[in-house]
Amino acid sequence: MKKSTKRLLSLVLFSTLISTNIYAYSDEDRIKDMQAMEKAAQQMQKGFLYNNLKDIQEGAALLKVHTKKIEPPVKGEDEFKKSYAYQTTKRESKKIVGYADESVKYFQEHRSKQAMNSFTKLLKQCMTCHARIRKW
Ligand code: HEC
Repeated sequence: MKKSTKRLLSLVLFSTLISTNIYAYSDEDRIKDMQAMEKAAQQMQKGFLYNNLKDIQEGAALLKVHTKKIEPPVKGEDEFKKSYAYQTTKRESKKIVGYADESVKYFQEHRSKQAMNSFTKLLKQCMTCHARIRKW
């Protein structure tokens, strides 16, 4: 192999290594996102109890940022299991975003009971995932 080709190849390998390191979603990342979501959900709840739209909006926005980042904890090479885990995560995350938006929208329309309903549904999605994940 020519020297320049070798150098190019090692450069490619090196940058692949770096990028997988940067973009790999670790268990610690997941715990951080979970704790952030828990805090965000509390902020929303506080908003409902104190009748404060700003807390609901801020909590919902934070929740959305973190729920979009979640990746499931799948190890090993079982492709079926992996794709099930990723699909479930994507679906739950999408539902959480939807309910967060819905909750804010209803509260803005002074329909606080409906807003609270959406918030409850949102929390149910967290539990759905937690229950399923124990089997992964
Ligand atoms: C894609 C699946 C998934 C969804 C959706 C999800 N979680 Fe989690 N959650 C996990 C996993 C996986 C763990 C780690 C469980 C374990 O290690 O036992 C976890 C753990 C947690 C923990 C414990 C963190 C710690 O410090 O140990 C909290 C709090 C939490 N989640 C909150 C939430 C909240 C709030 C929501 C909804 C807004 C939510 N989760 C939605 C998968 C999910």
